[in-house]
Amino acid sequence: MKKNIVFIAKSLDGYIAGKDGNLDWLHAIPNPDNDDMGFNGLMSEIDAIVMGRTTFETVVSFGVEWPYTKPVFVLSHTLNDIPEHLENKVFLVRGSLKEVLRIIHEKGWHTLYIDGGQTIQNFLSEGLIDEFRITTIPILLGGGTLLFGELDQSIMLEHITSKVFLNQIVQDHYRVKDIN
Ligand SMILES: NC(=O)c1ccc[n+]([C@@H]2O[C@H](COP(=O)([O-])OP(=O)(O)OC[C@H]3O[C@@H](n4cnc5c(N)ncnc54)[C@H](OP(=O)(O)O)[C@@H]3O)[C@@H](O)[C@H]2O)c1
Repeated sequence: MKKNIVFIAKSLDGYIAGKDGNLDWLHAIPNPDNDDMGFNGLMSEIDAIVMGRTTFETVVSFGVEWPYTKPVFVLSHTLNDIPEHLENKVFLVRGSLKEVLRIIHEKGWHTLYIDGGQTIQNFLSEGLIDEFRITTIPILLGGGTLLFGELDQSIMLEHITSKVFLNQIVQDHYRVKDIN
């Protein structure tokens, strides 16, 4: 069965990045035992990742070990090359989302992790998101990149579960029910 999952962290006021792309707040709550808050479980559940170019460049800029164990498809009209050390792990794609999904599904990869602000909003506008796993950090950023934007129509969700991590961070799972 085909499934597109959003797994993302946001501030209480709805931002996925602060002003100037700041992400320091993601680590504002001390996490002494490095609880992955569901990330490794997600990695084993999915077949591939689709992310926007900005998110890809942000992850690369961290300069840490590549965090993904599944193939990553990066949406971009401007990138032409992938860093050498990521060849065979990262693939550039462009075009309509339906066409991009067709290419990925043809490879037998049906459960996808969708990442990136603009990318999530575009998938959502086309009715292509099935599930949200949203981790809320208790901070008000007051500006930055919003997770959600305007929609042509409302979208009804069904709450599946909520978990609390580190006594501070709330993670909510929702299934998309129908688009009105
Ligand atoms: N809090 C979190 O958990 C979290 C998670 C992920 C990201 N982030 C942050 O959120 C921000 C996201 O940035 P963003 O809103 O710019 O979103 P993004 O989705 O990461 O990247 C947007 C870019 O993706 C490309 N793109 C999107 N759709 C495309 C299509 N159909 N075909 C070809 N290219 C397409 C375009 O790149 P080109 O300009 O190259 O064409 C576009 O500029 C970043 O600051 C990131 O670090 C936070």
